Amino acid sequence: MKNIFFAGSELSVNAGSTDALHIAEKQNQKNTLNVNHYHPIQKLLHWMSALVILWATITGFSVAFGIFSEEYAKAIGNFNVSLTLLFVPFFVARIIFAIYFGKPVDQRFTKNQRTLINTMHFIIYVVISIVLISGVLMMERDIVFGSYFIFKPIIEQGDVTQAFLEIHRYSCIVLALLLFIHISAVFHHQVKGVNIIKKMSF
Ligand code: HEM
Repeated sequence: MKNIFFAGSELSVNAGSTDALHIAEKQNQKNTLNVNHYHPIQKLLHWMSALVILWATITGFSVAFGIFSEEYAKAIGNFNVSLTLLFVPFFVARIIFAIYFGKPVDQRFTKNQRTLINTMHFIIYVVISIVLISGVLMMERDIVFGSYFIFKPIIEQGDVTQAFLEIHRYSCIVLALLLFIHISAVFHHQVKGVNIIKKMSF
């Protein structure tokens, strides 16, 4: 058996199956980031997503807890719906680049730690997808971007849009918890001397 890295994952392949090995190694050269860095496009999309999602999460919960006046709450709500709708194609691009480039394989962590980290990142992607899809499907009114583009609700107002509103609320809470864990984990490693932010720095 031989261990190789393919599309960001460590694989064990039978040394006898040379064909599979050659194909995997060819793919490996093309797709996997052998240096301990994400691709610049992945970094750009990560920090863009972080800005949009942290803004929407912090202001969204502040509105829900009644911190803003009614006038501000309405303005923030309208802005956030447009912002997050515009964010959808960037998030789709992020998933495509994540699949294509894979992840840098960080040898400072054990295989089990890497599996845990990768699983957490995968869950974050899934929960963001649920938040965005439920957000689009719960829409009950037109969304206008200036006077240029109108996004019409996909489902007619009723029980189904209300059900998506519930899914949206709970998935936003789960996402906030995941982000808290993600950011805490990054700081934990930094404090312990493992410079993890470097992987996402330009
Ligand atoms: C809304 C906010 C955020 C979201 C949704 C988010 C999501 C993610 C995801 C999904 C990954 C894995 C990327 C991949 O492998 O494709 C990642 C990696 C990373 N994030 Fe974030 N992130 C956020 C905020 C932050 C913040 C504020 C920091 C810094 C404190 C940070 C630091 C990092 C670092 C250093 C990595 C690389 C970790 C590794 O590969 O071991 N993130 N983030």
